[in-house]
Amino acid sequence: MNADNAGTMQAVRFDDYGSTCVLEVRNVPIPSCGPSQVRVAVAYAGINPGEIIIREGHPMARKMFPARFPDEGQGSDFTGVVTELGQSVTQWSVGQLVIGMSDERSSQAEFVTIDESRLVALPEGLDPKVAGCLYVSGTTAYAIVNAVGVSEKDTVVISAAAGGVGILASQLARRAGARVIGIASPSSAEVLSGLGVEPLAYGDDLVERIRAVAPDGVDAFLDCFGNGYVDAAVSLGVPQHRINTIIDYEAAQRHGTLMVGMAAIKDPAAVVAKLAELIARQELIFPIRAVYPMTEVRAAYDDLAGRHGVGKIVLAVNP
Ligand SMILES: NC(=O)c1ccc[n+]([C@@H]2O[C@H](COP(=O)([O-])OP(=O)(O)OC[C@H]3O[C@@H](n4cnc5c(N)ncnc54)[C@H](OP(=O)(O)O)[C@@H]3O)[C@@H](O)[C@H]2O)c1
Repeated sequence: MNADNAGTMQAVRFDDYGSTCVLEVRNVPIPSCGPSQVRVAVAYAGINPGEIIIREGHPMARKMFPARFPDEGQGSDFTGVVTELGQSVTQWSVGQLVIGMSDERSSQAEFVTIDESRLVALPEGLDPKVAGCLYVSGTTAYAIVNAVGVSEKDTVVISAAAGGVGILASQLARRAGARVIGIASPSSAEVLSGLGVEPLAYGDDLVERIRAVAPDGVDAFLDCFGNGYVDAAVSLGVPQHRINTIIDYEAAQRHGTLMVGMAAIKDPAAVVAKLAELIARQELIFPIRAVYPMTEVRAAYDDLAGRHGVGKIVLAVNP
């Protein structure tokens, strides 16, 4: 794919709420660069479960993130190369490799424009595929581990411990010195064990099985999956202020537990810069489980909706 001379580019768009069938890759105008903005030619763009909820038109998402039809765009995370600078931009230069996040749901495109404060330099040694999907999962993982204040005294349970958010949250909790029990399927167990996380299969009798492996109790619970994990944490006796969910807001309200997510991070670029350095130095891992060309965006989201696998799925735009 390549942007043409007539000022258009390929981008993911949709004109109505629905299944992945509404997603199309079409020619649209290249976005213009505002005074404090940088234009980036996107190499890789991330995909996240929240985008499914927006595209399917779930009632809460319609209120919080209403789609702008026709020609609604999609995608937050990206990595790429700076191609143009707004007049007042001081921190960046053309040709620099950057990691970013669009607040406009516009990263699944050949070009994206973004405020310069939202960019982070791509550290040497960081795989651009990894960089392309780091922002949302990384800031969320950082936020949730901080929200419950993990330390070396704690036993922490994490649901969906091998997913995009969970795999980083698990490692951050381990780096804080905690014992971490990671809920995942047996197919994710080896990766988790390699990170010093104790894998525990989801399924029947989970609360009893957690009690059996943590007879002294669970100090904190990070729910990255929903479907009853907040209830499980409450029945394990975890204090309300040490239970966080990023998905089951109904249960959080019912029990008075936390629902801290990426929005809690005041300086997301600083957090992403820190995580990117740690991954580049191989002190953290952030596995990529599949790469799809942007033209196969429907298949990529169908895969994501299956909710299985270790780490992230990423779209190759112009790698
Ligand atoms: N509020 C926020 O700021 C925020 C930000 C980002 C994401 N989120 C939300 O957080 C959630 C997680 O996002 P993500 O990107 O990490 O998702 P993801 O990568 O799609 O998570 C997939 C993981 O879920 C695991 N899983 C499947 N069935 C499970 C079960 N019954 N119990 C426990 N784990 C199970 C899978 O493990 P196996 O492969 O081993 O089966 C897989 O590793 C999503 O709902 C997303 O919308 C919220």
